[in-house]
Amino acid sequence: MGEVFYITTPIYYVNDVPHIGTAYTTLAADVIARYHRLKGREVFFLTGTDEHGQKVAQAAAERHESPQAWADEMVSHFKENWELLNISNDDFIRTTQNRHTQVAQLFIERLKESDDVYLGAYEGWYCVHDESFLLSSQLKEGACPDCNRPVEWVKEENYFFRLSKYADAVLKHIEENPEFVQPESRRNEVVSFIRSGLADQSISRTSFTWGIPLPFDARHVMYVWFDALLNYISAIDFGSDSKRFESVWPADWHLVGKEILRFHAVIWPAMLMAAGLPLPKRIFAHGWLTVEGQKMSKSLGNVVRPRDLVDEFGVDAYRYYFMREFSFGVDGNFSRRTMLRRYNAELANDLGNLESRVLTMVHKYRGGTAPEPGVPDREEDTLAERSEALYRSLDSRLADLSFNEALTEVWEFVHAVNRYVDVSAPWALAKDETKAPELDRVLYNSLEGLRQIALFIAPFMPGTAEKIYERLGLEAISGSRLPDSGTWGGLPPGSSTTRAEALFPRMAEGEAEGS
Ligand code: MSP
Repeated sequence: MGEVFYITTPIYYVNDVPHIGTAYTTLAADVIARYHRLKGREVFFLTGTDEHGQKVAQAAAERHESPQAWADEMVSHFKENWELLNISNDDFIRTTQNRHTQVAQLFIERLKESDDVYLGAYEGWYCVHDESFLLSSQLKEGACPDCNRPVEWVKEENYFFRLSKYADAVLKHIEENPEFVQPESRRNEVVSFIRSGLADQSISRTSFTWGIPLPFDARHVMYVWFDALLNYISAIDFGSDSKRFESVWPADWHLVGKEILRFHAVIWPAMLMAAGLPLPKRIFAHGWLTVEGQKMSKSLGNVVRPRDLVDEFGVDAYRYYFMREFSFGVDGNFSRRTMLRRYNAELANDLGNLESRVLTMVHKYRGGTAPEPGVPDREEDTLAERSEALYRSLDSRLADLSFNEALTEVWEFVHAVNRYVDVSAPWALAKDETKAPELDRVLYNSLEGLRQIALFIAPFMPGTAEKIYERLGLEAISGSRLPDSGTWGGLPPGSSTTRAEALFPRMAEGEAEGS
């Protein structure tokens, strides 16, 4: 079961186009998906859109459009943004697709048959923005505790899911499997939430129609969260192709933002238990990003879109910055100034200069041809050992989703290659004919250092990694497999290298708007 490495993002509401916050989860999932592909795993990376519910219906109504037409229009923005950010998702699920609605209906039907779904009456608060049912005791000054927006009183006949029946089993699973909910601080929150007592969950609505009709009672549409969570199994053919389903499920990772962890770590496992399905292996709740110290909001006018930054810095600088600057499990603050600073210091300077000076010297002293490696000396052995150790370390950093630590270590290696070039001083060796073999060795190992860097950064900055490979005269990096391709000395001598434009042209400080 589950031979395929399966990673998911939340499916995004189509009431807004992506901003740097929504793009953050998708980018993180992309890095992990790319890393595992590089390691030779078969990967299924899923993202998509959550198109039903009151919030989307209201957004469409405000524009005098049908919810479906509105969703169709918004989906194109999501797809465009993911292309812009070079996201390598294998599928894109929309909850209005037939393949999804069929699975959702099948699933709820089964739970109805096993009496895990029953008809009752709901009376209580509802937050349309978060699409969540709330108890009076959860409200903060009469408003939604998560988004502070006003809540509405709902009094409806609803179908309920017997969440309370599964509370103990879910709690036990969380306590016995420390990997299941991460990071630990968030796991503790989930545990106390379950301990405080779980009521059965309302899972249908009758006061509006934009949702999946219940197969056994067409007056009701499915509660949007119940429908949405099922995307993780509808996209892999649950109920229609058991061979495919079983080769992909359970998910290796569900990546979610902290505010939607409860749905994923409490309701979703209970739903799966009710259906007799295995639980996902791990769920990670990441922090929230603010902009220049403030929460992003349309009313403040401070929403930053990926396009704004990609136009200015380029896609790989964008990917680098968001993965390097923030620790995935905690909140972070985006600022143009720090992005510009990192761009100049770490991309233009550390990496860009290294690449250009090595290729320039190979061009100048060896006509662009990669020389023979010669016999390694202590300096080369040290570099090779460091790079080997870094492969091992990256494995564990990325297994923990410690993106920023992974990149910090990769940059320590970039510094090490820079230092190697400095201490070996090929420009001095070039002045002495008798030092030709030494010069060969230093140039070869500098090129090899660059090749290793390209492999290390490939999941984070795929475009830059490909450029470096191309300039080293190598085949596409996407055909490489770790650990084999990572063996030191993999660059064939005689390879014909090329110099080209700067990978990351330096930007004047103050050039970036708002810095
Ligand atoms: N549709 C639900 C998810 C259903 S999954 C079965 C939803 N959608 S959302 O569009 O509102 O949010 C999607 C994701 O974007 C969440 O993981 C959320 O945490 C993330 N982010 C939205 N704003 C964010 C920031 N400012 N910072 C970081 N992530 C943020 O919830």
